[in-house]
Amino acid sequence: MQESSDYVIILDTDIHKKVEKGLYMDQSSLPIVEALQQHAKKLPDSFHVPGHKNGFVQPAYARDILSAARFDQTELPGLDDLHDPRGVIALAQQLTADIYGSRSAFFLIGGSTAGNMIMIIAALQEGDVVFVQRDTHKSIINGLRLVKAQPVFLEPEYDETSGLPLGLSIPTVQEAFHYHPEAAALIVNRPGYYGWTSPLGAIIGEAKKHGALVLVDEAHGAHFPAGDVFPDSAVSLGADLVVHSAHKTLPALTMTGYLHVGRSSRIHSEDVQEAAAMIESSSPSYLLLASLDAARKYLHDLTQTDDTVLREQLQQTKQAVLQAGSLEEQLPPEHVQADPLKIVARTPEGHTGWALQRYLEKEHVFTELADEAHVVFFLSFQPLTTETLQRIERGTDRLRSENPSVTPVAGVRSLPFSGMQKLPADWYKAGRGETEITTLENAEYKQAALDIVPYPPGVPLFLKGETLTGERLDFLLGRLEQGGGVQGVRQSENGQWLTSIVKRKET
Ligand SMILES: Cc1ncc(COP(=O)(O)O)c(C=O)c1O
Repeated sequence: MQESSDYVIILDTDIHKKVEKGLYMDQSSLPIVEALQQHAKKLPDSFHVPGHKNGFVQPAYARDILSAARFDQTELPGLDDLHDPRGVIALAQQLTADIYGSRSAFFLIGGSTAGNMIMIIAALQEGDVVFVQRDTHKSIINGLRLVKAQPVFLEPEYDETSGLPLGLSIPTVQEAFHYHPEAAALIVNRPGYYGWTSPLGAIIGEAKKHGALVLVDEAHGAHFPAGDVFPDSAVSLGADLVVHSAHKTLPALTMTGYLHVGRSSRIHSEDVQEAAAMIESSSPSYLLLASLDAARKYLHDLTQTDDTVLREQLQQTKQAVLQAGSLEEQLPPEHVQADPLKIVARTPEGHTGWALQRYLEKEHVFTELADEAHVVFFLSFQPLTTETLQRIERGTDRLRSENPSVTPVAGVRSLPFSGMQKLPADWYKAGRGETEITTLENAEYKQAALDIVPYPPGVPLFLKGETLTGERLDFLLGRLEQGGGVQGVRQSENGQWLTSIVKRKET
């Protein structure tokens, strides 16, 4: 069935016959969803895993939550195998590759976290010098640790007005290749959490000129092919490997994602398949696989919707939210495109984003992200109800009326990463040894024994083994003081911030 020379999939005979009859060949079909529905219709008896036996064995206290268990299947005849696909999974993945324009697509059941690690294992080898946009998700760092590649961190640009990250600039990438022409790959993440998407085409061109691979963590951009109203997808711009969290912006279940091999990529799809089997469960969830199949069809249906209609619909939703809360939108600088599926709302003067987020939560409105001066709303293609808008209005009104005298809030403090930083060859071993829990105060000038990661967005501030000091330590203390979440630091009963440091290094 496959068109690429490096990845020949031989379909099972029965499915091949169906394909010959014209079934499952167009974007309106749902191979996995339909196979699960057909299996359920048989009212099958289960003497196999999972232990809930098609949802028959179910504790009453969780029945509502586990109501989809009858479709939570395993590798039965007709349901295919994610790690050796020859049936409905192969077909669903091919339909996905077709809609994104990739050579092959892989369904991820461990989110972009798994996807990033799979992408790195498939593309890189021990000792490879790799450029990494410094404000990268921790899964990229963990993937690089696994393969023992050697990162050279590149500083992203920041918006002068808002302090928010903009992605890599072309001069930064050019300079990087000037100093390290031997680099095997460039790892980019775009768009960021705020939905801001800097141009990628020229950066890919620069990397290709130097023979380097381009790996893109496009976790927040699975919906980009939906229409011209969205930024171009990294697949269409010629990246070698691209990872999407389907669950972030498409109506897919949490933990789902897609990994694409670009059309002209040097990476072999079989290497990706092999890496996926290393990282992901050998018992992938069929509920997740079905939701990836359905999300792909949903994306296809969006592509059939007129761009102007999509644009107006999202614009109306955005305006309705901003008006309800009397909030203003923070726009990126001109050369950067904002994803219309997100709203970066500036908080009312004198209030932090975290405070607004808490007030909205009191009204049962839950947002994705807050910082010193913004709250980020992730939208969907569904219009909002009047009730939702009233809740937003109540939350923001209460914030303003219950906190009349607030101190002025400083703008967003950009993550303090500067310049180009090449890590030592054995960086992946750093921070191993005997550890000790201590206060952040005592931890100054000591080595971190774990990654310290503000979450969201999940960008490691200190890597395990780095010395806790300087501007980054100030940044960490400031973030904790303002109530921002940080993985790798916890609060003691008497309110002190604790972390783990290296007491004695491994020899
Ligand atoms: C840029 C980026 N990459 C990767 C991930 C991991 O995605 P997932 O939650 O799908 O594992 C995230 C999660 O927030 C992210 O923001």
